[in-house]
Amino acid sequence: MKRLAGKSALITGAARGIGRGFAEGYIAEGATVAIADINLDAAREAASELGDGAYAVQIDVSDQASIDAAMASVVSHAGKLDILINNAALFDASETVDITRASFDKLYAVNVAGTLFTMQAAAKQMIKQGHGGKIINMASQAGRRGEAVVLVYCSTKAAVISMTQSAGLDLIRHGINVNAIAPGVVDGAHWDHVDAMFAKLENKKPGQKKAEVAAGVPAGRFAVPADLTGMAIFLASAESDYIVSQTYNVDGGQWMS
Ligand SMILES: NC(=O)c1ccc[n+]([C@@H]2O[C@H](COP(=O)([O-])OP(=O)(O)OC[C@H]3O[C@@H](n4cnc5c(N)ncnc54)[C@H](O)[C@@H]3O)[C@@H](O)[C@H]2O)c1
Repeated sequence: MKRLAGKSALITGAARGIGRGFAEGYIAEGATVAIADINLDAAREAASELGDGAYAVQIDVSDQASIDAAMASVVSHAGKLDILINNAALFDASETVDITRASFDKLYAVNVAGTLFTMQAAAKQMIKQGHGGKIINMASQAGRRGEAVVLVYCSTKAAVISMTQSAGLDLIRHGINVNAIAPGVVDGAHWDHVDAMFAKLENKKPGQKKAEVAAGVPAGRFAVPADLTGMAIFLASAESDYIVSQTYNVDGGQWMS
């Protein structure tokens, strides 16, 4: 029996990277997945590549009307919502004295308010359905400690860990499990962007920051999205029904070291 057979999932930021990897894993376990992204063309392309079980939905998690419309699309397409992965997020890096209000507002609108209000919309739908549900928030090792030039992003991910704790304690009485995953470093477009930013900030050659970071991971390499999929399936399955408000590191030992 597939572990997510008959389940309807919504994954934000699923057009690429980790979210897309989660979608692939969920579909293999029998779920129908809304590939929800601000970039509708990319979401459509990903959905068509992922095949039966995937469909594209536009969402801008920083916009309440867009969240509500995406939720309505999921209910209209799949008839219900069982699983949400709050995966969409933005990254920025700069020295503390150079942080702009524009960057702060943008990251908080997507990473914090986006996570909160998409979680809220999903919880309302799940409560209405009356059968509980699963909400998985994407945190990061960045939310567990600061980084000299990553103040804003780190603080948004600390907020994700905290919101997961509070929402988990509140929503479990409705049978909704809220938990989070804290990856270490995962290869893909996100990290190409991070590497380019560090190249500027720390005068490094392209690829140098990535190589240095990879050398420090006890598992000896960056993760690929598939390294995180098992945890995302577990947290969406009945096997995690008694797990509440937790954030799990899936990081090749990076946080422990
Ligand atoms: N890659 C890593 O090393 C790493 C490490 C720790 C945590 N994470 C977290 O994992 C999650 C996925 O990371 P990734 O590497 O796949 O990121 P990514 O940048 O490759 O993908 C993010 C996706 O989110 C979409 N998006 C951006 N703004 C949006 C918005 N307002 N509304 C809806 N969609 C939006 C983008 O179009 C993109 O498809 C993020 O929450 C990230 O913070 C990533």
